[in-house]
Amino acid sequence: MCRVLFAVFCVLVCLSFNVHAATVTLCGGNVVDVQATGIQQVFTNYSTLTTVLDSVDARSNLECITKCSQNGHCAAVVFRERDQSCDLLDSQQDVTHYSSSEKTGILVSNVDIVLSNPLRTDQSSGTAVCSKWPCTDTSRCREDCTSGEAVCLGNTKDCDEAPVTNIHYEGYPSSFGGVNGDGPSYTYVKQQSSTGLRISYSGTIRAAIACNGCATGFYFKINGAECSNPGTIEFVEYHASRRDKHEHGSFSGICWGIAAGTLTIQIHIRDRGGGADAHMGWNSYGYFAFEEIGPTGTGSCDSYTLFNVKEFTLHQEISTRDENAYMTETYTKRASDTSLAVFFTGTLHEYGNGHCARWYFKFNGNECSNPGIIDAFIYNNGDNNPHTYRTFEFSGICNGFSAGDVTISLHTGSCSWTGGQHSPTTGWTTISRIRVEETRLGVDVSALVGTSGISALRLPVFNRQYWWYPVMNFDSERTTVKSETYSKKSALTALRVLWNGDTRQWNNGQCARWYFTFNGTECSNPGTIESVKYAYYYDASSVNLHSPFTVQGTCVGLPAGDITLNFAVSHCSGYSGENAFTAWGSASNMMAEEIFLDTY
Ligand SMILES: *[C@@H]1O[C@H](CO)[C@@H](O)[C@H](O)[C@H]1NC(C)=O
Ligand SMILES: *[C@@H]1O[C@H](CO)[C@@H](O)[C@H](O)[C@H]1NC(C)=O
Repeated sequence: MCRVLFAVFCVLVCLSFNVHAATVTLCGGNVVDVQATGIQQVFTNYSTLTTVLDSVDARSNLECITKCSQNGHCAAVVFRERDQSCDLLDSQQDVTHYSSSEKTGILVSNVDIVLSNPLRTDQSSGTAVCSKWPCTDTSRCREDCTSGEAVCLGNTKDCDEAPVTNIHYEGYPSSFGGVNGDGPSYTYVKQQSSTGLRISYSGTIRAAIACNGCATGFYFKINGAECSNPGTIEFVEYHASRRDKHEHGSFSGICWGIAAGTLTIQIHIRDRGGGADAHMGWNSYGYFAFEEIGPTGTGSCDSYTLFNVKEFTLHQEISTRDENAYMTETYTKRASDTSLAVFFTGTLHEYGNGHCARWYFKFNGNECSNPGIIDAFIYNNGDNNPHTYRTFEFSGICNGFSAGDVTISLHTGSCSWTGGQHSPTTGWTTISRIRVEETRLGVDVSALVGTSGISALRLPVFNRQYWWYPVMNFDSERTTVKSETYSKKSALTALRVLWNGDTRQWNNGQCARWYFTFNGTECSNPGTIESVKYAYYYDASSVNLHSPFTVQGTCVGLPAGDITLNFAVSHCSGYSGENAFTAWGSASNMMAEEIFLDTY
């Protein structure tokens, strides 16, 4: 009899749920291991031969199985997700004449690359830890056995992808110095072969000092080779007039087709014409970040803060102007309760003193109005040869699109507030990238009930918050450009922040610094979150150059609770007498989110 039952059990469970061999750890004062061995789980009542011992509430199949294991006579459960009910049965059901999909009742998705932490399964909002961190849906609150911290649970059932995993952050505390040829190198262990490898750099860059008409490229090699799918991840800067310019730059891109394994990722420098000389990391803390992306699935991913990550690319320089589109893409939104986050990386060019070109996103033919436009621009005045070719990033979030196709386009045109465009181009030398994500702002779900039903799966990114600002025109130093309160849920997470908007430093040989503080203090773990602009022009006394700018980084070790995020501008260490301007002409925005580093 036992053998027959095991055979039945194995047909059902071994092929579908694998709950038979799992251990559920309960936590609290006394840790108890609950062997769930031999418990059959089905989602439908197939049999008239079994008896219902008890019907209990269960917020997950994990909790249902745990309750069965605690009942001396229970051999199987019927768990109904919809009404969160759990029937404890005295024997297992004979399901041999049902097909596998009928047996399970749901499609088990394949998200299996996540960290599992044992959770307290049987108590929820009543526990002290949960009252400190109420989840939006209180029945989803659990205690993490390892950290003793509250966790808000969601479900993987609606999502058949792991959008972002294995986020690894490498800060660099001081100047890399001259990096002609090879720059710093890092090791990253990619966990999956099917994912894209996203690489980003944020820090001070100087390209080609004191020369006319010269350009430098900064690009990544992965295990000794440049990315080939879709192509190299590179930052370039060209200038026509002689200068010594240390300016913050950021660039990023997703590379596909990189197999799982230990990777050496190194940044290199090359001459892009006219003689390259390169310097990185001057007078600010910079960083490299590596993460795994997708691949995308089909579900609505109701518990996720972000999913459905697509990066559209174009490798072509086009002289787009007069409000025409440089790139037009169709993005298929999978849920109606999400916003669209768009991130541009690419090389922008404008020419001429007193001219201004603006780049901006449209959605289905209109600029974003909820909450507001997503744009960037280059304005130059006073240079003796005013060419600006440089790789820039800008980004934003737009609300109000239901599920279905959305046309996302990137346009170039005039700046309504100042001199007209001259001859802008987009996409010189490097690949232009538009990354799009579906995102749910403020979602507090930080872990999911795993598809096996036994473990909790960390979500590497959650609790994203976003603030949008119209033109502000802030001149000179400011102890506060903008200040917002971020409600941090977990003490275990790192806080990732991003400022996005126009800046300028006008005085020759001077340096301005834009930076974040957290409750009044700059980040020290691993380092400050700051970006600088220093410029010395050999053949001009001062150049009024406004350009797109980001300040971004990740701070580790901040406690849970309300944190004042303050964005400020001052002079660089060792300088005074700069002439800074912030958020002229274009909109700005700020974003913050919690991330679990190195989690997969
Ligand atoms: C299953 O359904 C049958 C018929 O509807 C019922 O007699 C039986 O008690 C049910 N068994 C369980 C375990 O719910
Ligand atoms: C930040 O400061 C506020 C106001 O003083 C305080 O209520 C809050 O607890 C602080 N946050 C953290 C995480 O320490």
